[in-house]
Amino acid sequence: MSHLKNDSLLRALLREPVDVTPIWLMRQAGRYLPEYRDVRRRAGDFLTLCRTPALACEVTLQPVRRFPLDAAILFSDILVIPDAMGLGLSIEEQVGPRFADPVGSEKEIRGLRIPDPERDLGYVLEAIRLAQRELSGEVPLIGFCGSPWTVATYMVEGGSSRDFQKIKRLLFERPELLHHLLGVVAAASGAYLNAQVNAGVDAVMIFDSWAGALSRNAYLQFSLEYIRRILETVTRAAHGRRIPAIVFSRGGGAWIEETARCGCDAIGVDWTQDLGDARRRTGGMVALQGNLDPAVLFAPESSIREETTILLESYGKGCGHVFNLGHGVLPDTDPERVATLVAAVHELSRPYHL
Ligand code: CP3
Repeated sequence: MSHLKNDSLLRALLREPVDVTPIWLMRQAGRYLPEYRDVRRRAGDFLTLCRTPALACEVTLQPVRRFPLDAAILFSDILVIPDAMGLGLSIEEQVGPRFADPVGSEKEIRGLRIPDPERDLGYVLEAIRLAQRELSGEVPLIGFCGSPWTVATYMVEGGSSRDFQKIKRLLFERPELLHHLLGVVAAASGAYLNAQVNAGVDAVMIFDSWAGALSRNAYLQFSLEYIRRILETVTRAAHGRRIPAIVFSRGGGAWIEETARCGCDAIGVDWTQDLGDARRRTGGMVALQGNLDPAVLFAPESSIREETTILLESYGKGCGHVFNLGHGVLPDTDPERVATLVAAVHELSRPYHL
């Protein structure tokens, strides 16, 4: 039924039986890999790397060539949508993302236009086509976008933020204006994910990295509602297959029951949550993806194996678990430790699927 040689990721996301727990890692392509640093140096900067399909394809494939991972994730960034809206993105080492023209005023926010994915983000779609050709069905390719709330934090703050003062001020001072902004980003994200599905991705993921900055009430209205709108828009079946959708909610453990009802197939869980507890609370409604603390990869091999066992045991027997970190791979990680983790998950998870 599947065009894939290894479809365990898609099966686990749809809570179908698998022989071993599939594993991939957030930020599996990145600075911890010397071959990534080489390509990045050749490209000159991060955004040129994203905008050059042959190079974006190359770094997408690097981790799956090096490790027996069960999925590739498209190499790009969640901030390419506001960049395509004309906010002028730059990403520098040590500094992180910056927008030359952040939005805040009524005029700036009402003036935002929804980008045309084919015209304005065609380089991403081309990278997907190239990567799928190279992968030739070995493992699925995951496409992604940011949650409207998380993307909007960067658009309004102008970059990374500690306290989210500007956007939270907007939330409480001009809620209707923030709703308008989130509606535009949600419409743009829905169209963008559909274009990614048409270009060939096998699953989609929405990163809500700043879910935890909100109160429960604000989260439901200003984040989850717009994730729901994206998922309503996105084609969930293509090329004769179901396209599973994952929602990564960082800091969202307190309201996982609500997130489970947003129309997703799986929830990405950060390391502050107990996976068994998350499983009980979502009651088989969704699969769970996560949630090893990325810093565990600094530990010796034996501890990585122990932590793997603890995590597998906390989820327990049966299907519906995709092994991942609770957030991205840290840049100082030794690639050998990643190899240890991937092998440990494949070896130690077998008994959980008998
Ligand atoms: O997971 C992958 O391997 C796919 C690629 C990917 C990147 N960013 C590459 C990247 C994905 C899925 C993202 C998503 C993303 N981008 C998120 C959501 C997930 C998360 O991490 O919480 C967010 C919040 C962003 C915004 C962003 N982009 C930040 C905060 C930074 C700076 C962080 C850093 O490490 O410097 C980026 C830049 C970025 N995106 C890098 C990578 C590999 C580092 C750029 C470099 O090579 O210097």
